[in-house]
Amino acid sequence: MKMGVLMFSFVRLMFLCIFINGSLSKLERLEHPVTKSDGSLNILVVGDWGRKGGFNQSLVAHQMGIVGEQLDIEFVISVGDNFYDDGLTGDTDPSFEASFSHIYTHPSLQKQWYSVLGNHDYRGNVSAQLSQVLPQKDWRWFCCRSFVLCSGMVEFFFVDTNPFVEKYFTDPGNHTYDWNNVLPRDKYISNLLHDLDLEIKKSRATWKIVVGHHAIKTAGQHGNTQELVDHLLPILEENKVDMYINGHDHCLQHIGSDGEIQFLTSGGGSKAWRGIIQPWDPKELKLYYDGQGFMSLHVSHSQAKFIYYDVSGNVLHQYTLSKKKSKRFSLF
Ligand SMILES: *[C@@H]1O[C@H](CO)[C@@H](O)[C@H](O)[C@H]1NC(C)=O
Ligand SMILES: *[C@@H]1O[C@H](CO)[C@@H](O)[C@H](O)[C@H]1NC(C)=O
Ligand SMILES: *[C@@H]1O[C@H](CO)[C@@H](O)[C@H](O)[C@H]1NC(C)=O
Repeated sequence: MKMGVLMFSFVRLMFLCIFINGSLSKLERLEHPVTKSDGSLNILVVGDWGRKGGFNQSLVAHQMGIVGEQLDIEFVISVGDNFYDDGLTGDTDPSFEASFSHIYTHPSLQKQWYSVLGNHDYRGNVSAQLSQVLPQKDWRWFCCRSFVLCSGMVEFFFVDTNPFVEKYFTDPGNHTYDWNNVLPRDKYISNLLHDLDLEIKKSRATWKIVVGHHAIKTAGQHGNTQELVDHLLPILEENKVDMYINGHDHCLQHIGSDGEIQFLTSGGGSKAWRGIIQPWDPKELKLYYDGQGFMSLHVSHSQAKFIYYDVSGNVLHQYTLSKKKSKRFSLF
């Protein structure tokens, strides 16, 4: 009997090793320690914010602080467009303090911030935002193009969506984008999709959440990002991720049907009120709010709940996803 258990453990270990070795991706993996005894996770999500406090950025920051304290959050996710209008010029750019350190000052926000880049960040010096100098100035800052973040039963897959958008290459208007380390574009995109697919397939997390700057589905001003619909969405569908979270449209939005991927936009970190909403099936469009605000996310083993707040902290919308206990036999 004991021998049988031992054998099983050994075979299991062998499988695990082969499994991991056979699926190496180049995406950086990070672990955020679980602190709550039941393993649950509370976080905030904000996007499109860095305006030195302007356009209600400071009001949103204040409410994030209050909600962050109530929920005892573990960390904050930034979905990009971290610094307007044109990212940072270098790692000594004072916008870093003026738009980040001096704005999100509430004690509850003194947590790790995990950030991706937006199109406005790519209009500046990308290596500045990725630089190790910024975390020395403000330890909360973590920014990477694409990476995987594990926290207990949740795994977040952060994706650099900027290189997908063809217009930035073929019709950039008066803007210049910092494509250092991204070209050749086709290779960058195919490597990224390959690595992402491997990482999601490898994941045994209860909840799989993908984060990017650009929307896959949106009724907002920019409209769906067709390149992501074509190339990213099939991977999310095939691997049955639970949600995709983005910014880019300066609004708060929830698109989704029960039992399918939920598409969440949290792009209300500062300038909003664009006044543009495109027609969308009302059965799917569960929230469209054109103003400022942010989102919270609470994940437990059986449920994931997200709540949207406006600039005064009023709850605009909330939604809960439930996970049935899987009866499927799993080797791992
Ligand atoms: C800031 O928020 C207030 C309250 O919702 C709103 O009246 C005002 O228009 C907002 N300001 C900007 C610049 O969006
Ligand atoms: C971009 O920022 C990095 C880090 O501060 C700096 O070393 C580099 O010179 C900057 N590049 C340009 C073109 O300014
Ligand atoms: C580029 O900038 C010039 C000068 O500000 C302006 O006249 C022109 O319309 C702009 N072009 C585009 C495509 O935005």
